[in-house]
Amino acid sequence: MEGQPVVTWLSVFLLLSMQNIGGSSSASNYLIGLGSYDITGPAADVNMMGYASAEQIASGVHFRLRARTFIVAEPQGNRVVFVNLDACMASQLVTIKVLERLKARYGDLYTEQNVAISGIHTHAGPGGYLQYVVYIVTSLGFVRQSFDALVDGIEKCIVQAHENLQPGSIYINKGELLDAGVNRSPSSYLNNPAAERSKYKYDVDKEMTLIKFVNEEWGPIGSFNWFATHGTSMSRTNPLISGDNKGAAARFMEDWFEQRGSHNGFNSPHSNNPGTDRVPRRISNLVHNPLENGNELMKLAASFERSEGRPATRSLSVASRVRNALKRADKPQFVSAFCQSNCGDVSPNVLGAFCIDSGLPCDFNHSTCNGKNELCYGRGPGYPDEFESTRIIGERQFRKAVELFNTATEQLTGKVGYKHAYVDFSNLEVGLPKRGGGTEVVKTCPAAMGFAFAAGTTDGPGAFDFTQGDDKGNPFWKLVRNVLKAPSKEQVKCQHPKPILLDTGEMKIPYDWAPSILPVQILRIGQLVILNVPGEFTTMAGRRLRDAIKMSLISGGGGQFNSNVHIVIAGLTNTYSQYVTTFEEYQVQRYEGASTLYGPHTLSAYIQEFKKLAAALIIGQTVMPGPPPPDLLDKQISLLPPVVVDATPLGVKFGDVKTDVPQNSTFKRGDMVAVTFWSACPRNDLMTEGTFALVELLQGQNAWVPAYDDDDFCLKFKWSRPAKLSPQSHATMEWKIPESAVSGVYRIRHFGASKSLFGSISHFTGSSSAFVVAN
Ligand SMILES: *[C@@H]1O[C@H](CO)[C@@H](O)[C@H](O)[C@H]1NC(C)=O
Ligand SMILES: *[C@@H]1O[C@H](CO)[C@@H](O)[C@H](O)[C@H]1NC(C)=O
Repeated sequence: MEGQPVVTWLSVFLLLSMQNIGGSSSASNYLIGLGSYDITGPAADVNMMGYASAEQIASGVHFRLRARTFIVAEPQGNRVVFVNLDACMASQLVTIKVLERLKARYGDLYTEQNVAISGIHTHAGPGGYLQYVVYIVTSLGFVRQSFDALVDGIEKCIVQAHENLQPGSIYINKGELLDAGVNRSPSSYLNNPAAERSKYKYDVDKEMTLIKFVNEEWGPIGSFNWFATHGTSMSRTNPLISGDNKGAAARFMEDWFEQRGSHNGFNSPHSNNPGTDRVPRRISNLVHNPLENGNELMKLAASFERSEGRPATRSLSVASRVRNALKRADKPQFVSAFCQSNCGDVSPNVLGAFCIDSGLPCDFNHSTCNGKNELCYGRGPGYPDEFESTRIIGERQFRKAVELFNTATEQLTGKVGYKHAYVDFSNLEVGLPKRGGGTEVVKTCPAAMGFAFAAGTTDGPGAFDFTQGDDKGNPFWKLVRNVLKAPSKEQVKCQHPKPILLDTGEMKIPYDWAPSILPVQILRIGQLVILNVPGEFTTMAGRRLRDAIKMSLISGGGGQFNSNVHIVIAGLTNTYSQYVTTFEEYQVQRYEGASTLYGPHTLSAYIQEFKKLAAALIIGQTVMPGPPPPDLLDKQISLLPPVVVDATPLGVKFGDVKTDVPQNSTFKRGDMVAVTFWSACPRNDLMTEGTFALVELLQGQNAWVPAYDDDDFCLKFKWSRPAKLSPQSHATMEWKIPESAVSGVYRIRHFGASKSLFGSISHFTGSSSAFVVAN
């Protein structure tokens, strides 16, 4: 009879320890919901946001862009929402419209107070979605389709996260990642006081902070991390939509997790090949994403059938497979986001900046080659292959994130909170401590951009063609350049030593050129505090802000916070107002200083306003809401022509193959297979949560199963017109066969939609000949 108590005790012990490992219900202190949605937007004709190069026009997809969201709520208390966008930056207008939709759905549950929308700073996404003039010059004004893709996608991923709210716990971890960013303005950084610089080992922040979400029932369901490095691994000449290094890292980590699941305990990020070794993302998204896809795909399939003339059963197979999978969707989708931080002076082009003529390093202080900035380019680790640089910098972030994810043990506990205010930065009084005691009051200035702004950076020299005086035929620029304004004496003095190129803060025609009213916001989850800033802080500017808020929280927190508080800066959040340097960096007037809009005391103004938020957070006081930013939607001017009509040559149908894969050929892994189709403008249907390109594998006699889509690193969708105004167009799919591809018979398909002269949209599909991949 001695056996029984032993067994009982053993099972109690096991039960207890299992609960500890799995996270017992008492450990699940929050409700957590995650969401993710496609925000790729128009993959043709639209100028890309970031480099402000009028020639950089989207024409295809490297991989898709997504919005990823977490919601964290106290079971009976506050909640916060954080959205990370694979976009260059947040936009005030997008934020306003998302908040309106959330209000219509949920009343006062989600407002500007507790919702943060942040951009990763990819320079390879469609532009035209910001409301201030200066950010939409090269996109020929406002682009409704880019804007709608963002607003719709953000709303959908927040709705998903809301509907997924379930008990869970959050773990936090930090670590150094040394080789994913370098300072691109070190001469500016060196102008900071030596004593301050000596506190830090590096001239950029190397720390990644990661939070891991663990669902009580399902275990780990996702992670978000913050790390500072620019989204400029893809260059200013790249025309393919891409999430750059952070989008890539997110893709790799989500794929890693899916495969980890299917490989039963497989845990190491080192033994797979990111971006090439995975099940099709699109299908798995649809599986977990029971929105309206079933119907859409049905319709799509029906129209494929018409244009393709195939038996219905065949063309419906993709849709029906997806629908069946939908019914089996039970587990939450793993969501992993790589968020931007104080990346202002941080370049992912870690090999340094070199002159393209001589191959020598550029001038240290001015980033020039023989006095010319156009020749100086930063080099990524995959130089000269920008796709490789993107993959490598993405992979480095991904591997660090996996390491932090696998070893995270510190649990977030405590209150969820938030504080938000709108602040007019154009004329703000800032109290600075005087050396001998007392306070000196200084002021911010109306926004202005200095001459160095036009020179660009080593990541993209010569941004904007403003300095050329003329317009290079850009009709939007013609429209607005006449209001260029000479700055007032007062403004020149206020902005000193910035030589003013564009006095944007004082230019209001046809509507505001630059923001004056900016949102500042703090989100708190236990001992994690997120500072949401509407711009790109440089390394030292970010350090000063974090340190100041940390001091405030610890000294004024009455024990709520101790030295264990984790503070991250979420850059490019809620709206966009370019750069924020330190006062000392501002004096040097490199690109970042020239783009610090509100004068030399911009950073001090931020610190002052964030301190107010921190104080209010501690004592649970409300803050003055401040003046709301303008909604300029009705004033927007759009000069991007619509798609007029798509056409094919006589005797050719949309989706017909123009240049097929080589006949009867066998390919090896590592080979590139290409096929070109007669196509139509991708703007007719963005294929949101779908694909323009699909590699299918033959299973059995006649069943084609999807293997890779346009969200895969190995499959590129390149779209082009034979001539600028031609109604004809071509789509080339390039598949670099991954090492992990199984041997078999494959074909490459194209999905698209064409526009008739009367405006109706018809879907079409086409397929290459079958080909073989073998050893
Ligand atoms: C950069 O400028 C500083 C300050 O003018 C000067 O002392 C330094 O020698 C310059 N460095 C180089 C490499 O030209
Ligand atoms: C090559 O392709 C032709 C049709 O183009 C086909 O008739 C023939 O059987 C193929 N040969 C091989 C070896 O597969």
